[in-house]
Amino acid sequence: MELEPGAGGEGRGAGGQNVNPSPAPRPSPPPFELASHSPAETEALGERLGRILTGGEIIALIGPLGAGKTVFVRGLARALGCPPEEVASPTYVLERVYPGRLVLRHLDAYRLSGAGEFETSDLGAGLGAAGAVAAVEWADRVAGAMPAGALEIVFEVTGDAERRIRLAAGSDPGRRLLERLAAGE
Ligand SMILES: Nc1ncnc2c1ncn2[C@@H]1O[C@H](COP(=O)(O)OP(=O)(O)OP(=O)(O)O)[C@@H](O)[C@H]1O
Ligand SMILES: [Mg+2]
Repeated sequence: MELEPGAGGEGRGAGGQNVNPSPAPRPSPPPFELASHSPAETEALGERLGRILTGGEIIALIGPLGAGKTVFVRGLARALGCPPEEVASPTYVLERVYPGRLVLRHLDAYRLSGAGEFETSDLGAGLGAAGAVAAVEWADRVAGAMPAGALEIVFEVTGDAERRIRLAAGSDPGRRLLERLAAGE
């Protein structure tokens, strides 16, 4: 797995007198990208992330059919002490729940019409609850219902067994998780 620090790019601005007493807003967490060369590598990335989750995280998984979203969730499940062999795309049931060290909620928005349906169904309830991790496949279909602080993981198919995986965080805790992942934890 090749780890490439993201382009980042957001400068911290020129030095000099800070006329604003409130702390400067932190730049968005720098997204970073990885190249996965096999399903096993993608699952291993999910497992690495799963190991450092503490509950309350929401993981928005984005990418086309067969991109590797479910493979990634299998890795999460393994790390959370949930049975990975039971993890399958929850497309027909919209959600599967796996008890483990943390509860893993595996959701799939593929068949939903949009954020409204997500919010009015039970699916959106309890997102971000302590003691649970929510992994949402096709999160871009319900983007308006995804909390701003969610971790976003975008999968791009770049070859038969190649995937480009881009990770970004919308909150400081998420940023810290990604920093730990990027550091090889
Ligand atoms: N590097 C890779 N990472 C992940 N999966 C890969 C990779 N290379 C090949 N694959 C294959 O791609 C498929 C990914 O399937 P998966 O069910 O995870 O996709 P998905 O994104 O969840 O799709 P869907 O939207 O249909 O649920 C599997 O058949 C897997 O073996
Ligand atoms: Mg899937």
